Amino acid sequence: MAAPSSPNVRTATSADVAALSDTLARAFADDPVTTWIFPSASYHDRLRRYFVMHLDKIAMRHDLTYTTEGNRGGAIWLPPGAWELTPRDILRTLPATVRALGPRLAFALRTVLHIERRHPRAPHYYLATLGTHPSHQGQGVGSALLQPVLDRCDREGLPAYLESSKERNVPFYARHGFAVTEELALPGGGPPLWLMWREPKG
Ligand SMILES: CC(C)(COP(=O)(O)OP(=O)(O)OC[C@H]1O[C@@H](n2cnc3c(N)ncnc32)[C@H](O)[C@@H]1OP(=O)(O)O)[C@@H](O)C(=O)NCCC(=O)NCCS
Repeated sequence: MAAPSSPNVRTATSADVAALSDTLARAFADDPVTTWIFPSASYHDRLRRYFVMHLDKIAMRHDLTYTTEGNRGGAIWLPPGAWELTPRDILRTLPATVRALGPRLAFALRTVLHIERRHPRAPHYYLATLGTHPSHQGQGVGSALLQPVLDRCDREGLPAYLESSKERNVPFYARHGFAVTEELALPGGGPPLWLMWREPKG
C-alpha cells in the first residue's frame, strides 16, 4: 500500500467552512469534554453547527485557520489578545450558540467560564481547535496543521497555549514543544483537561 501523501496545508477561507466543520465534528465524535458538555442524540449536528458559527463569526477574521486539500483536518488559532470573546462577539454569536447548545447552554457557559479563568494573560497564540478526520488520523495531518503557527511563534518570540481534552494527545503536543502546566478538573464531576504552554524556540 502506498504511504499517505504529505498533507498540503493552506489557510482556510469561507469556502471551507461547511466541509471543515463536518470534519471537525467527526474528529470530536468521541471527545470526552464536548460529549460531556452536550450529550445529545443530535450531537454531531449540534457540534457541526457550533464549528460553522465559530469559524464564520470569530475565526475567519483572523486568517489563522489552517486546513488541507480535501479538508482532512483543521487547526483554528487565535492571535495574541483575541482568545477572550468581546461583548460584541458574544452578541453576534448568541443566536447560533443557543441553537447549537440547546438546553445545555447555561451548563456549557459555566464550564467555559471555569476554563477561561485559567487562561494565561501573557500574550500568546491560542490553539482553539485541532482535529483530523478519523479516517486520516495518524498520517501526519495534525502535525502539519500545527506547523505554520508554531513557526510563527518561534519567529516572533511568542508562546502558544492550548487545552487538551484527551490524555492521549499530551505526548503528541509535547513532541511539538508544549508542556502541561495543570490538569484541570471540570466542575460537576466532569472529565479533566490538560492545560499546555509552549515557549518559543531559540
Ligand atoms: C489529536 C489529533 C489532532 C492528531 O492529529 P493526527 O493527524 O492524528 O496527528 P499526526 O498524524 O500528526 O500525529 C499522530 C500522533 O497523534 C496522537 N494521536 C492522538 N489521537 C490519535 C488518533 N486517534 N489517531 C492517531 N494518532 C493520534 C498520537 O500521539 C500520534 O502519535 P503516535 O502515532 O506516535 O501514537 C487527531 O488524532 C484528532 O483529531 N483526534 C481527535 C480530536 C482531538 O482529540 N483533538 C485535539 C483536542 S485537544
